[in-house]
Amino acid sequence: MTLAKDTFPSEQIPSIKRVMMPRDTNAVGTIFGGVILSEIDLAAATEAHRHHAGMVVTVSMDKIDFKAPVRVGDLVSFFTETLRIGHSSIKVKVAVWACRRFGGGSHEYVTEAEVTMVAVDEAFHPIAVTAGAGSDSTPG
Ligand SMILES: CC(C)(COP(=O)(O)OP(=O)(O)OC[C@H]1O[C@@H](n2cnc3c(N)ncnc32)[C@H](O)[C@@H]1OP(=O)(O)O)[C@@H](O)C(=O)NCCC(=O)NCCS
Repeated sequence: MTLAKDTFPSEQIPSIKRVMMPRDTNAVGTIFGGVILSEIDLAAATEAHRHHAGMVVTVSMDKIDFKAPVRVGDLVSFFTETLRIGHSSIKVKVAVWACRRFGGGSHEYVTEAEVTMVAVDEAFHPIAVTAGAGSDSTPG
């Protein structure tokens, strides 16, 4: 499976879906980029927890280009795909699509990111990724 920019992944279940509200806006009335970055981080952690039941923290998020604005009322989907599992790290691709609630319900590609999460112990030191279903641990 590969998340592509030109095709809405209608067959895939997104890790997160969120309706954008007026509280999420910036000074010009569209959705604040930081809100989208926060959801990307959470979506990546959700994907990482499919591979590691314990705590994971975000060590890296690559360059992110926003290709289209997100608007109030849009239903935004955050699709994820695991790119690589290392010793303690899990690299995840997150693709973000907006469904235009006030624009006929069309899907528009917003952005994508590659996020690396690291499995850590109680002292926040890296540990080996352990196989197994996810937990509800809080991502860092
Ligand atoms: C994540 C953290 C524990 C890693 O510690 P570290 O000393 O860099 O650990 P290591 O050098 O052993 O690297 C651990 C793994 O992370 C990977 N990694 C480290 N830095 C990375 C980076 N910038 N980009 C991608 N991967 C990275 C390493 O390749 C390694 O992967 P592997 O075990 O699969 O081979 C530490 O950097 C940390 O605590 N960062 C803050 C995390 C955090 O709080 N995030 C939320 C921010 S508010």
